[in-house]
Amino acid sequence: MVEQTVQIVSNERDTDLYFRLVVRAPQIAPLIQPGQFAHVLVLPMKDALLRRPFSIFQVAGDSFSILYKTVGKGTEVLSRMTPGEELSVIGPLGHGFTIPRSGGETPLLVAGGYGMAAMYLLAQRSPQKGIVFVGGRRRADILCEKEFQSLGWEVRATTEDGSQGEKGLVTQPLRDELKRSTAIRKLFACGPTPMLKAVGKLAEEFMVPAELSMDEHMCCGVGVCLTCVIPVKSGDGWEYQRTCTEGPVFDAKQVVWEATE
Ligand SMILES: Cc1cc2nc3c(=O)[nH]c(=O)nc-3n(C[C@H](O)[C@H](O)[C@H](O)COP(=O)(O)OP(=O)(O)OC[C@H]3O[C@@H](n4cnc5c(N)ncnc54)[C@H](O)[C@@H]3O)c2cc1C
Ligand code: FES
Repeated sequence: MVEQTVQIVSNERDTDLYFRLVVRAPQIAPLIQPGQFAHVLVLPMKDALLRRPFSIFQVAGDSFSILYKTVGKGTEVLSRMTPGEELSVIGPLGHGFTIPRSGGETPLLVAGGYGMAAMYLLAQRSPQKGIVFVGGRRRADILCEKEFQSLGWEVRATTEDGSQGEKGLVTQPLRDELKRSTAIRKLFACGPTPMLKAVGKLAEEFMVPAELSMDEHMCCGVGVCLTCVIPVKSGDGWEYQRTCTEGPVFDAKQVVWEATE
C-alpha cells in the first residue's frame, strides 16, 4: 500500500453520469490485483476530510483508471477536474478476487452498474473466459460491454426498464444459466448489496462457489476506524470483519446476511 500524489492523465464522460479517470501512479499501478480499490482524496475540495473509495478499473504501464458515477459532492468535483491536476491516492487497498485457474471452473461474473469496474482486471487476467452478466436500471448503466467482449467474454445485459438486453434483474439470466448447464462454475460479483445477497443465495441454491465484493461506506480505508464492517461467520457464530482490509471480496458462504439486516 502506497500513498501518492498522482496526476490526472484524462477524465472523460463515459455515458450519462459515468466518467473514466486515468491517473499516472508509477508506485501504485504495478502492485494492483483484480478487485482491489484506491482511496482517493479529491484535493480541490478544501473542506473534505474523507477519501472516496473506487475499484481499480484498468491498469496500463504506470497508470490506472477508475470508472465512477457522479452521486454526490466528491464525485461531482472529481468530474470537473482536468488533465494535469492532482489527487492524493492510497492504494492498492483490500483483498481482491481469486484469479480463476486455467482449466478450472468456468467464471461467471455478475455486475450491477459501476460494479463492472471491479470486474475488468479479473476478466483480463483470467486465463479461463466465461460469461459476464451485467445489470442496471437502464441502458446508460450498462458499461463497457464491448471491452469485455474484446477480451473474449460473452456479455449478457439486463435492464429494469428493458432499454437494453433482457428486461428484469441481472439474477434472472444468471439463474437460467445455472439451471441450464451443469458445467463446473464459480461466481464473482460486485454491485449493490441486494444484488450481492441474491447472488449469494443463488450460489447456495446451486451449490457453486462465489466471491462477492462488498461495497460498504468507508472512512479510513486502512482498517482503523471500523466504519466498514460486515458480519462474517466465525466458528459457531459470527464476528465483524472490515471490508477495507479483510475484504472487499468475501467468500459468499462466509457472509451472515441475516445479521446485515
Ligand atoms: C470498495 C468500494 C469500491 C467502490 N468502487 C466504485 C467504483 O468503481 N465506481 C463508483 O462510481 N463508485 C464506487 N464506489 C462508491 C463510491 O465510493 C461512492 O459513490 C463515493 O464515495 C461517493 O462520493 P461522493 O462524495 O460523490 O458522494 P457523497 O456525497 O459522499 O454521497 C452521495 C450518495 O452516495 C452514497 N454513497 C456514498 N458512498 C457510497 C458507497 N460506498 N456505496 C454506495 N453508495 C454510497 C451516499 O449514501 C449518498 O446517497 C465504491 C465504494 C467502495 C466501498
Ligand atoms: S474504512 Fe476504516 S476500518 Fe474500514
